Amino acid sequence: MSQFDHIIHHPPASFVEQANVAGMDAYHALCKHAEDDYAGFWATQANRLLSWKKPFSQTLNDSRAPFFSWFEDGTLNASYNCLDRHVEQGLGDKTAIIFEADGGEVSRATYAQLLSRTCQIANAMKHLGIQKGDRVIIYISMSIEGVAAMQACARIGATHSVVFGGFSAQSLRDRIEDTGAKMIITADHQVRGGKQLPLKSIVDEALTLGGCDSIEHVLVVKRSGAEVAMQAGRDLWMTEVADGQATTCEPEWVGAEHPLFLLYTSGSTGKPKGVQHSTGGYLMHAALTTEWTFDLKPHDVFWCTADIGWVTGHTYISYGPLALGGTQIVFEGVPTFPDAGRFWKMIQDHKVSIFYTAPTAIRSLIKAAEGTAAVHPDRYDLSSLRLLGSVGEPINPAAWEWYYQHVGGARCPIVDTFWQTETGGHMITPLPGATPMVPGSCTLPFPGIQAAIVDETGKDVPNGQAGILVVKKPWPSMIRTIWGDPERYQKSYYPEDFQGKYYLAGDGAIRDAQTGYFTITGRIDDVLNVSGHRMGTMEIESALVSCTELVAEAAVVGRPDDTTGEAICAFVVLKRARPTGEEAKQIAKILRDHVGKEIGPIAKPRDIRFGDNLPKTRSGKIMRRLLRSVAKGEAITQDISTLENPAILDQLADNH
Ligand code: PRX
Repeated sequence: MSQFDHIIHHPPASFVEQANVAGMDAYHALCKHAEDDYAGFWATQANRLLSWKKPFSQTLNDSRAPFFSWFEDGTLNASYNCLDRHVEQGLGDKTAIIFEADGGEVSRATYAQLLSRTCQIANAMKHLGIQKGDRVIIYISMSIEGVAAMQACARIGATHSVVFGGFSAQSLRDRIEDTGAKMIITADHQVRGGKQLPLKSIVDEALTLGGCDSIEHVLVVKRSGAEVAMQAGRDLWMTEVADGQATTCEPEWVGAEHPLFLLYTSGSTGKPKGVQHSTGGYLMHAALTTEWTFDLKPHDVFWCTADIGWVTGHTYISYGPLALGGTQIVFEGVPTFPDAGRFWKMIQDHKVSIFYTAPTAIRSLIKAAEGTAAVHPDRYDLSSLRLLGSVGEPINPAAWEWYYQHVGGARCPIVDTFWQTETGGHMITPLPGATPMVPGSCTLPFPGIQAAIVDETGKDVPNGQAGILVVKKPWPSMIRTIWGDPERYQKSYYPEDFQGKYYLAGDGAIRDAQTGYFTITGRIDDVLNVSGHRMGTMEIESALVSCTELVAEAAVVGRPDDTTGEAICAFVVLKRARPTGEEAKQIAKILRDHVGKEIGPIAKPRDIRFGDNLPKTRSGKIMRRLLRSVAKGEAITQDISTLENPAILDQLADNH
């Protein structure tokens, strides 16, 4: 008996009929192909979906495991695959991007236009000395120019590293230093929610913080047109260097393993790690998952609401939909401006057919719709939708049902896609024309992905029993290494515990006893997921203790939150007496702002509690599991016999 029997939603017959993968038999046939001939399965997809300059002869090279190579002797260019080949096939006039600005202005770029602009930016970069293998930081908001800048890097073989526009100068500096980038592409400002927020001045600040000597040029896109400081010789307006360039640029043909991009993400220890992705394997999976999970067709209007600063924006804006020649929306703003009906209005206006967003957004829009009828999705014509997606965190069944009923009109399948920055693309997800859906479950592995659940020794656990999520075989779009730190790559993802054989996702999971469906139970390390943004507790702790004049010690944990999934809760010991009342509020504000400056506003703790000390074992180790209970407001039921100072728990519990 499955725990899910009563809540299964089957894909509608009309969807199945036209689906790229139609029915469970088709899904099982693909899985079987991969089981019988693993390399052959992936080679078939890579040859079918990508245009190679030089074909590959070896699919997988595992001789240096866990450093795997895919299609390594093949050469290609990602930007050629995303742009030129569509233009060559007569799709030059097809709309590639429909851009909607924060204020509602709409502009469009056809494939021919996006290719021309990409070439101009590529030529400008070459003119300024950027060569194959150089790193380029992109710190920009959602824009056609941002996507073109990523494509331009790919075109000349430069490795981009996009930094989300919400990160602080300090975070940007860390990434500049770690990548050793030569160039930054940014904008004067970004405009979000009716507000003009600085980008260029944050770049300027980052470059004064030291460690950024590698930067030779800063290219600035004009967004607001407001005055910004420009340093002669270093800073250049994008229009001035790119607009006069030729609109053609021969692609740099790179090996399949050439690093397409680095994207920084949080781990359980230390500073964020630069996840390195390849060109061939990554692009193949971006295209394949867009085809199978999103069922993308030539007439679709696809909309992924993620920012290009996160992996979701890389794979499902800048690469996947473009590799397939699709039409997509790029949105500059936020879901709640000018009101919480913005997403629904945009779906209606642009006749969006495939919509992909995060549970946090859905939950906050449910709240808004329940409060104000005018922003309820029922008030909009959403009949163009045929498929919905969810990503970034577990979606609770109630939010799933609301999304299904009110946004999808009970006719659109929902793909709850589990994946990570490191996996490059979807790993466990329904295929919309095949997999019966269960709210709250990401269902079954994508064909070819050998996901499994094991115990601490690496032994498979039976269905119905919770365990550790692993992937048993390498796959083409997997992380290649951590930039500059191969040892950390090996330790983090191929730990000794499993004899270095399995990829460790860092999540716990359970499979349903009967259906074998996966449900992700959350991170098993010290990584938090706040509004779908991944953050390490250690990073936030380091940011707090870097406020040296105030903070002696800090511990950060997550607590469940109805809207953001998890909320950041910090326990802080000050260098002065424990503050209370108004003083506590004031110091909490100073500390929140400090974390905002060190990392970015997304890392500001929701709760800050002050204690005379933290709960520690006699050997001085902070007992975080107790702090997690205190943060949740739970009674402590755990064994506290090893705790040195039990009275501290009452103080921390009372104090908020
Ligand atoms: O904990 C899982 C959660 O997000 C983590 C990956 O975060 P990041 O690298 O920032 O990538 C997010 C976008 C792909 C995972 O380890 N996660 C992601 N998708 C889901 C999810 N948890 C549950 N269900 C999902 N669909």
